[in-house]
Amino acid sequence: MSITERWTSTLETLKSQGRYRSLRCSLGIDFTSNDYLGYGSSRSRIRPVGDLERNRSGMASRLLRGHHPIWDEVESALAAWHQAESILMMTSGYAANEGLISTIIEPGDWVASDELNHACIVDGLRMARARRFSFRHNDLNHLEEGLKAEHQKRHEGRELFIITESLFSMDGDRAPLREIVELAERYSAYLIVDEAHATGCFGMKGSGIVDELGLRDRILASVHTGGKALGVLGAYLACSALLREFLINRCRHLIFTTALPAIAGAWWLQMLEQVQEDHEGRAKLRENFTFVRNSLAEWNLVCSGDQFIIPVILGEDPKAVAVAQHLQNRGFDVRAIRPPSVPPGTARLRISIHADHTKKQLQELCEALAEGITTHGITGSL
Ligand SMILES: Cc1ncc(COP(=O)(O)O)c(C=O)c1O
Repeated sequence: MSITERWTSTLETLKSQGRYRSLRCSLGIDFTSNDYLGYGSSRSRIRPVGDLERNRSGMASRLLRGHHPIWDEVESALAAWHQAESILMMTSGYAANEGLISTIIEPGDWVASDELNHACIVDGLRMARARRFSFRHNDLNHLEEGLKAEHQKRHEGRELFIITESLFSMDGDRAPLREIVELAERYSAYLIVDEAHATGCFGMKGSGIVDELGLRDRILASVHTGGKALGVLGAYLACSALLREFLINRCRHLIFTTALPAIAGAWWLQMLEQVQEDHEGRAKLRENFTFVRNSLAEWNLVCSGDQFIIPVILGEDPKAVAVAQHLQNRGFDVRAIRPPSVPPGTARLRISIHADHTKKQLQELCEALAEGITTHGITGSL
């Protein structure tokens, strides 16, 4: 089989499974992006930044000429926001997770990772070639079983790690972080928390769930991305100064990639001014997702989680595609999420609620969703 036949055959298989993907532009009112606070649209306060717009300083690695002084400013501001010892900017959340994990975890170390953790955590673990224990989603008993067994046979110089998201991207539920921290301490494991979907949306100043729960000093590192609620380009790690220094010297995802342009640093500073004081945005987000969750419950649509990511699990891929199409036809941009993004048999609509949705939009979305589900004769698994 030639290489083109191989690709064509894979694409045909995906089509026959209802898992074929294509790139599509916006399809209507945004209920799909991670713009939870509306910073990427109507609530944006990004202003022109003059000279920085012409500055192309990012055209090298941060270890070479790519390190513009604005990034020192951004990292200090982020450290103050989180009350963290230090911050290391990275180009994306994907690179931050994969880079951190593959750099600090060594073959022989042992890692407990929630089974629903994001692909970039899974890929980081593959690269690290560590021994992996995939614990059932948010199942503290299963996690403890693994930790206990590994702790007993612990070898000199081998470390234990736990990795979890704080707010799960496809299920909208939160990890029991306080309990996980306690388990980590009981079994001397280091905890890494991916705050990709929580950053901006939780805590008095919006710095995330780790800070909201006062766990900053009890975890090894947290991973944050700018590309979701914060509406800016890039990502960062919050960690100790020593770990930051180690990553600067060892992390291939930082060393061998081009730095972000300085203009992105200016956006980070502007965004930080806004997000810390944005109690209104967080309150509006809460009001909106509570409204939708309550309305769906009235239609007997019970969705997991209790936050602004609302998964409507429809089971088979074609069902999710059909209901998503129904919503798109009515002007709502809702997409079907299928394996491998979610486990087989749990294809779903992932409805993402934003602070700048209006009540009318939310009401109409709920009605269209109920109509779509009825039209396509879907019952049971809800
Ligand atoms: C939980 C989680 N972690 C990390 C990432 C990667 O972040 P980025 O989009 O900045 O690469 C994502 C993106 O979808 C995510 O959902």
